[in-house]
Amino acid sequence: MTASLDSRSPLTVRLVNFVLGITPLFAFAKKRARKMMIERAESMGVMWREQAAQLQARDWQMEFDAVNNPQLEYPEYYVKPFHAYNEGNLGWSPATEVELAAYAVHARIWSDSGVNGDPLLRQSFHDVLKQAVVDPPHDMVDLGCGVGMSTFALQDTFPGSQITGADLSPYFLAVAQYRTALRQAGKGNGLQLQVCEPNQQSAPTWVHAAAESTGLPAASYDLVSSCLVFHELPQAVSVQIIQEAKRLLRPGGYLAIMDMNPRSAVFLKMPPYILTLLKSTEPYLDEYFRLDLCEAIVTAGFESPKVVCNTPRHRTIVAQLPSV
Ligand SMILES: C[S@@+](CC[C@H](N)C(=O)[O-])C[C@H]1O[C@@H](n2cnc3c(N)ncnc32)[C@H](O)[C@@H]1O
Repeated sequence: MTASLDSRSPLTVRLVNFVLGITPLFAFAKKRARKMMIERAESMGVMWREQAAQLQARDWQMEFDAVNNPQLEYPEYYVKPFHAYNEGNLGWSPATEVELAAYAVHARIWSDSGVNGDPLLRQSFHDVLKQAVVDPPHDMVDLGCGVGMSTFALQDTFPGSQITGADLSPYFLAVAQYRTALRQAGKGNGLQLQVCEPNQQSAPTWVHAAAESTGLPAASYDLVSSCLVFHELPQAVSVQIIQEAKRLLRPGGYLAIMDMNPRSAVFLKMPPYILTLLKSTEPYLDEYFRLDLCEAIVTAGFESPKVVCNTPRHRTIVAQLPSV
């Protein structure tokens, strides 16, 4: 178990929490953090303001209607500010900026990775996955798929597979739907960072649902993957998602979870007040750091998981269901 963020240096942490509790100061800190992220992205050639403005100027109605489930009731833990957006994941600003943010945030995983940090992070996850699975999966689910970055990367890792992406944000899914058409037409990845060949893979199915109750058919998938999602979840929901993964998988199927590694030196050495600042944009980070995911996976009925540090601050957990 990792120590709770609050127990590591109560005084500094309480001070930072106090300062962040003052609304104008929190707003100022958020603004500064956002400015720094935009500047970092643009210094690497990711034209944040221009790309976001272009995406925000589109009429998204068609994609939104195609993915939105109007019956869905959002769980209370999800309708909170995340990543310094007051609307959390439920709005066009986060949906059109999440990919840009991923490039900025992952640029410093390795000292020289820059704009390649995000694709390298995903590749490092999939390298572990390819080693761990015996037969290439055919039917896959990406839980918490966002705008599809993890979904497309996973499908490209196992070409010919069928993939379903599930997410609670219809805004993110609308962007994923838009990116599907771009990808199939060979018009790059939406950010126009690369122009690709038209992609021959079958289009992913996008499902507007909670990862803990997807409504997808039981025992129908070979791999359930979840990339960079668990740090956004209360512990009880993480446990429910693992149980849902078990329900979705065929006997012998795999669960793969890639996210921050609370035991990495990067986090263990991070000054508590920096962690507290991080937590101010990630409401469940403390719960995530305290959860023993491997224990939860074994308790749900999976075999003992394999854990690999795929970057200096991320880990991949792969667990298999018994074959019979
Ligand atoms: C940091 S993003 C990661 C997106 C994507 N997997 C990637 O690697 O780029 C986390 C995603 O999880 C989604 N999410 C959070 N809680 C969820 C839940 N309970 N069910 C479904 N999606 C959820 C959010 O809407 C968001 O799209």
